[in-house]
Amino acid sequence: MNINEKLLDTLNKQVTAEHEAALIYQQLSYELSALSFDGMSTWMSAQADEERVHAEKIADHILARGEHVKLASIEIPDLQVGSALDAFTIALEHEQKVSDMIRNLARVAEEVQDFDSRTLINWFLNEQIEEEDTVGGIIDQLKMVGEDGAGLLRIDARLGAEREPAAGPAQ
Ligand code: FEO
Repeated sequence: MNINEKLLDTLNKQVTAEHEAALIYQQLSYELSALSFDGMSTWMSAQADEERVHAEKIADHILARGEHVKLASIEIPDLQVGSALDAFTIALEHEQKVSDMIRNLARVAEEVQDFDSRTLINWFLNEQIEEEDTVGGIIDQLKMVGEDGAGLLRIDARLGAEREPAAGPAQ
């Protein structure tokens, strides 16, 4: 065995958790689209893509060390989204849960003295700080505008523009 069994199990759980995060973001994207916040929906969908990249980063590490990736089943909770604020609050709560899992991963790697995973885990620790900060900032802005339609639409347009694929060169 190239990776300590407990660490391998924790890494594998994280691969599944990142796919779970992707599905939650995708569900939130659909809910925001249903509320006609198309920019926020695009933002959530791009976030779902990022989560899949996160899953692959860990899977690649497991495979590069000659081990097998084992996915577990994922059950998506029934997410109650009545507003943009609800959607981003759910996203933040989920990111906080993922941050706890990454801290646990760091703890396990330290416990079993696995130095080879250190760079990967440090990347994720930093990424979680950024993700919580980004989503927290959007929540602050949503709280500022409250029910103001014009304010909500401005945030929607900005978030959509941030994540729209760049237009290609004119033909
Ligand atoms: Fe991969 Fe948003 O945590």
